[in-house]
Amino acid sequence: MGNSFNIAVIGGDGTGPEVIREALKVLDATQKRFGFTLNLTNLNYDGQRYLAEGKTLDDAELNALRQYNAILLGAIGHPDITPGVLERGILLKLRFGLDQYINLRPVRLYENVTTPIKHKTHHDIDYLVVRENTGGLYTGIGGSSMTGTDQEVAVQSMVYSYHQVERCLRFAFEQVVKRNSNSPWKGLSPAEKDAGYIGKLTLCGKTNVLTHVFGLWERVFKELGSEFPQVKTDYVHVDAMCIYMIECPERFDVIVTENMFGDIITDLAAVTQGGMGVAASGNINPKGVSMFEPIGGTAPAFTGRNEINPMAAIGAAHMMLDHLGLHDAARTIEASKIEVILKMKSMAAAQMGFSTSNIGDMVAQAILVGAATPN
Ligand code: IPM
Ligand code: MN
Repeated sequence: MGNSFNIAVIGGDGTGPEVIREALKVLDATQKRFGFTLNLTNLNYDGQRYLAEGKTLDDAELNALRQYNAILLGAIGHPDITPGVLERGILLKLRFGLDQYINLRPVRLYENVTTPIKHKTHHDIDYLVVRENTGGLYTGIGGSSMTGTDQEVAVQSMVYSYHQVERCLRFAFEQVVKRNSNSPWKGLSPAEKDAGYIGKLTLCGKTNVLTHVFGLWERVFKELGSEFPQVKTDYVHVDAMCIYMIECPERFDVIVTENMFGDIITDLAAVTQGGMGVAASGNINPKGVSMFEPIGGTAPAFTGRNEINPMAAIGAAHMMLDHLGLHDAARTIEASKIEVILKMKSMAAAQMGFSTSNIGDMVAQAILVGAATPN
């Protein structure tokens, strides 16, 4: 049915299930107001199951996920499990197996949220990072020999094919068009607007050292640039990117980068937008099954305390609806989020002025009464 969607829900470990509960509350309110249906299936692919059964995610389970319209994920990780086991065995297996080749991270500082960047406000921080999500160092290509001796050699390769680079850059160019189709990005000068530009795409790389990989990225970036004449193109090395993201975040509209650089700069970006309590992400396969998650992790210190901030998970729900084409519903979640954030004391766990479940209730209520209108 056009108005009904099958959603796999993986609450995961730590505070994952708590924040997902609030996201589901909000989605429930949104369904009531907008009249669509989400059929939810809860799945326990997490660290608890691994400890009980020694199992991460097998191929049959991965394949079964292909029948869903989307996946909503809380967080996966367990203090008693060796780092890497769950990450590779569940999270990365999902991203790779479902070919979710884009990791989409909106970086927006909402009003009333504190940023550690002095003198910057919600007027200055509003951009999108498109991180390549299935290539580069994450492919795990490499190895070591003479392990344990002083002759040990270890290699981990940054691998990219033309195909991977092209599809990622194309997606990023399309995002610039999507974001700015109604009105041009405010960071453009009058002359640039007169010249027909509607937005800007910044490639973040390291062409001065990683000449092979970024030679490829840069060449394809230029090639595609001529297909999108309305998009102004810009290039920044990853180290300089860390400076600009702090000194002048208003410089950015959409940033595109490879997997590991994207992993690093999006944590920096998250902290500028108020931290892990608010930052959400989407693992996107435009033609397949996409997965939406808060990026905060399992937060073991706050587990079970009703103190963790569910806004990032609610943000993941908002991204999921947008991806499913439910744009008005998605915009209403965001507007309601903004309304509730204005009432919160802080975005940090245990300092919000409200409990986890209070916040879910408030956002759900704002959606139901319809006070928050989509903008
Ligand atoms: C993220 C996380 C993951 C990554 C880890 C948990 C494997 O840091 O989603 O950014 O490195 O991609
Ligand atoms: Mn990360």
